[in-house]
Amino acid sequence: MDIPVLHRLALNESPYPPLPSVREAMHRAVAQAHRYPPLHPDDLTERIAAWCRVTSDRVTVGNGSVGVALQLLQALVRPGDTVAYAWRTFDAYPLLAAMVGAEPLPVPLAPDGHQDLGALLAALDHRTRVVVLCNPHNPTGSLVTADALSAFLRQVPRHVTVLLDEAYMEFARDTNLPDSLALLDTYPNLLVLRTFSKAHGLAALRVGYGLGASDLVERIRRQQLPFGINAVATAAVKASLRAESELRLRVDTVVAERERLRRELVSLGWRVHPGHANSVWLAAPDPIDEGAAALTDAGVQARHYPGEGLRLTVGNRKANDTVLTALAGLRALRSTSRM
Ligand SMILES: Cc1ncc(COP(=O)(O)O)c(C=O)c1O
Repeated sequence: MDIPVLHRLALNESPYPPLPSVREAMHRAVAQAHRYPPLHPDDLTERIAAWCRVTSDRVTVGNGSVGVALQLLQALVRPGDTVAYAWRTFDAYPLLAAMVGAEPLPVPLAPDGHQDLGALLAALDHRTRVVVLCNPHNPTGSLVTADALSAFLRQVPRHVTVLLDEAYMEFARDTNLPDSLALLDTYPNLLVLRTFSKAHGLAALRVGYGLGASDLVERIRRQQLPFGINAVATAAVKASLRAESELRLRVDTVVAERERLRRELVSLGWRVHPGHANSVWLAAPDPIDEGAAALTDAGVQARHYPGEGLRLTVGNRKANDTVLTALAGLRALRSTSRM
């Protein structure tokens, strides 16, 4: 018998539905759904640029940040070139590399879940066009600090573009966070990737953006589908940008719940490294496969990498309590079975 899913914690989604002001903006846009959106999303681009305090020639909008990443690869990669990334990473990267005929260059994560920047640098050669860094990383939530990122960028050859995926940056609270936009002047081979899917909670609407040097941005924009950004999504994003303080409260709540989950899991005996995204990462040799089964039984959908790890999106309080109960029961079971 299938166990019903009560809590969706597998895709790092926001636990919150869109804010009322965002829903109202979407309703108004739906009433105009017989009209095409603009050929190019110039107005939205300008809004995002103003919000990020950069000029609009440095911003490119796409169909989710995945869409922007694909456009970047389409613009730069020729069949047979390599695309390097830490592995594991966000599942889309190998798929996108395959879509443009690139040879994937996966570089194993360090044992503590960090991206191994030295090994990534060592993997780059004359065939490499793009290296992806996720910050914070998916699935482990690890962070590349400002100092480490600067050292990395200094060593990347200029024929390699660095795709710095900051999908989860709003959830990071470390004191040594990179100011990636301040690096754009120095590194014309840097594209910072961001999204409205995570902190803004608009995953279904598929809007992401990239920030980079104007030449690079121009090349990426040339790959954009005409009329490609949905008008309802555009209205929602603009309203979301006006609701910054309400969204900040939501993000703060997710961060507080992430820290609570981590503390409680540690007190239950799980080894949990500090995570900086909207998720918590449990890894082998802790009993993650049994943990995954216990979560399924409790109606929690988590992301399970068999034999390797378990990524739990931070949900609402009820969902997180369900996770804690399921994983506590498992540890209790294990300690009794050892007796
Ligand atoms: C690291 C990372 N980048 C990008 C995305 C996808 O973002 P979008 O919805 O903007 O395509 C995800 C989604 O899980 C992700 O984990």
